[in-house]
Amino acid sequence: MIIYLIGFMGCGKSTLGKQLAGDLNFKFIDLDSFFVSKEKIKIHEYFTRYGEEAFRKTEYKLLRQIDLSTNLVVATGGGTPCYSDNMDYMRKCGVTVFLQLDSALLCKRLIKSHTIRPIVSSKNNEELKIWVEDLINKRTEFYNKAHLIIDARNISSALLVKVLNPYFTNSISLNFI
Ligand code: S3P
Repeated sequence: MIIYLIGFMGCGKSTLGKQLAGDLNFKFIDLDSFFVSKEKIKIHEYFTRYGEEAFRKTEYKLLRQIDLSTNLVVATGGGTPCYSDNMDYMRKCGVTVFLQLDSALLCKRLIKSHTIRPIVSSKNNEELKIWVEDLINKRTEFYNKAHLIIDARNISSALLVKVLNPYFTNSISLNFI
């Protein structure tokens, strides 16, 4: 079974994904880290050198290179579901989970975060707020195609396991009863 975590930058996909994979005894892949290890370049450097469209095309290719033969949690990049037919692809391959957070909380987290995010780093707080709201509005129609939409404010791995339970095959779900 493949679980794709989707949502805006800063919603907690990587942190929760790692915990979830640990609790389920699934493998974990962070698509951003997969990108860095395959392309041998940091994402912000890739953006600067080649631009966003090239990034999306490479991300598209790498999403399809992930080995789906094993139980897996994938933390996607914030823009992954919004490019081409990536969302349809993920829906076909597994269960898609949208970690939803409001723009104010996302901004707070992005300001606090030490991760270098190319689209964020050049903005002051006010610009960031406007930009996040605008981008969320554009991306929501893609995120909303997820099988599950979860309020990410108080989500824990244990709670997510419960919510996901109907999607597990019998053999997997038995471990969590
Ligand atoms: C992006 C989000 C980033 C990364 C890239 C672009 C986006 O991933 O893929 O910087 O367009 O939202 P995270 O959501 O893991 O920060």
